[in-house]
Amino acid sequence: MWLLSYILPIIRLYLVGVKVLLYQLFNKSFTLPVLPKQNGRVAIVTGGARGMGYETSRHLASLGMHVVIAGNCEEEGMTAVKKIQEEVSVGGVEFMYLDLASLKSIQQFVQRFKDKRLPLHVLVNNAGIMLVPERQTEDGFELHFGLNYLGHFLLTNLLLDPLKKSGRHGACSRVVVMSSATHYGGQLNMKDLQGRSCYCAHGAYSQSKLALVMFTYQLQDMLVAGGHPVTVNAVDPGMVDTALYENLCSPAQLAKKPVAKMLFRTPAEGASTAIYAAASSDLEGVGGCYLYNGRIVESSGISYDENLQAKLWKESCKLVGLPQA
Ligand SMILES: NC(=O)c1ccc[n+]([C@@H]2O[C@H](COP(=O)([O-])OP(=O)(O)OC[C@H]3O[C@@H](n4cnc5c(N)ncnc54)[C@H](OP(=O)(O)O)[C@@H]3O)[C@@H](O)[C@H]2O)c1
Ligand SMILES: *[C@@H]1O[C@H](CO)[C@@H](O)[C@H](O)[C@H]1NC(C)=O
Repeated sequence: MWLLSYILPIIRLYLVGVKVLLYQLFNKSFTLPVLPKQNGRVAIVTGGARGMGYETSRHLASLGMHVVIAGNCEEEGMTAVKKIQEEVSVGGVEFMYLDLASLKSIQQFVQRFKDKRLPLHVLVNNAGIMLVPERQTEDGFELHFGLNYLGHFLLTNLLLDPLKKSGRHGACSRVVVMSSATHYGGQLNMKDLQGRSCYCAHGAYSQSKLALVMFTYQLQDMLVAGGHPVTVNAVDPGMVDTALYENLCSPAQLAKKPVAKMLFRTPAEGASTAIYAAASSDLEGVGGCYLYNGRIVESSGISYDENLQAKLWKESCKLVGLPQA
């Protein structure tokens, strides 16, 4: 029993991986259409200093947006800012410190952002970690669940006010949530969200990405019910050659290299659907969708379970200390 609940998530994750690679073998990466200029608009991109986050930040800045790169490595962040500034003459870009593995750091980040009195039109919840050995956040949450999901849950909730104020009907503010195809193999164990009974990093990653999809749908419903001019979509970038894979064990690392060279997307290709969700006019007013390769597709069956979505929301509020309005 124990072995099974440990191994099944691993098998499921690799099966999903093979399916994605087959898709990428036969299908070209989505090409971004011409996007409208974004002058005067402001975006926050978490984990915007490298990988797909960097490509997203760069592209949004080139459209004229002011981009705040939110990350937990000052040096890397400043290097990214410099590189983007050299390349892009419009827009503006700055770095702000944010450690998503700390509720306090998230609160402090939001306070510092609000002190700037900037509007907020786009929030890209991009940062993430994958397959790290069992570890906990500052507040004692399992790291995948705590950082990938709960951190973004709190961040988004704390930024809802500026998002609502900056959007209007016809020009909604947008939240983009980076999920992953691994969510298809994910399960949400409401009794053991922290994976205490049997820790499996593969299961923990998939679960965090499933939770992000459910959060997307629940939040979209709430925003619609309140009549707020904000939309939320989840994005699946495909398999992309970034530093995300650095925690694979060494045999998997070896196998990954040639496969990545042939079949993985580049960070710029991988970021294209997130950029599309953040800025395209096709998606004006469209929310509550799961986007893959520039198209709306179905997410996993369980992700549409409204009962489970509500339960997860309630539990998440409790864990991060938000009132359950
Ligand atoms: N690559 C893929 O094949 C793939 C597939 C599906 C989904 N995704 C998702 O796409 C997103 C971007 O990943 P990527 O592939 O571009 O990987 P990446 O290059 O490793 O980038 C991850 C980013 O997350 C940031 N981050 C990590 N821990 C953080 C923390 N505690 N606080 C704030 N930021 C933190 C990192 O910033 P620092 O460097 O400052 O730590 C980094 O900028 C992730 O959510 C990932 O799960 C990726
Ligand atoms: C290629 O894309 C099409 C359209 O999205 C899809 O129906 C098809 O299954 C994909 N091919 C593979 C091998 O996944």
